[in-house]
Amino acid sequence: MKIGIASDHGGYELKEIIHPFLTGLGYEVKDFGAFQLNDGDDYPDYVVPMGRALAEGELDRAIAICGSGVGACVAANKISGVRAALINDHFSAHQGVEDDNLNMLCLGGRVTGYMAAQELVTAFLNARFTGAERHLRRLQKVHLLEK
Ligand code: RB5
Repeated sequence: MKIGIASDHGGYELKEIIHPFLTGLGYEVKDFGAFQLNDGDDYPDYVVPMGRALAEGELDRAIAICGSGVGACVAANKISGVRAALINDHFSAHQGVEDDNLNMLCLGGRVTGYMAAQELVTAFLNARFTGAERHLRRLQKVHLLEK
């Protein structure tokens, strides 16, 4: 699996922990920045290019981190084909994929500790969309909103 990761300054520290964690698990990781801590940077500048790459099939999954995870999630969901959610619990990390085909996990670098973040990321990446008819039906209704 090819995984994208992106953060602004609020998520930079956690990104720098999660990136090698993913590499250590054997994932191919593409880092969309930020590549240094800059308190004046803006999350859309990193999250939107990653979201576009995800929507275009260049990535299998993506992880976006800002201070709270909120801004990253709001920005990502403006891109057709991106299904992003701010996740703070283990159940949602896998159920969001299984039922809703979540393809971008958003985390709050100022909210979620790095051990918890590693568990959320692992649950997200190990989960697979079930493809159940009721979930496809619901996703189709969501997809129509992108038109
Ligand atoms: C940046 O200070 C902060 O607002 C941003 O990282 C994020 O939390 C927005 O949702």
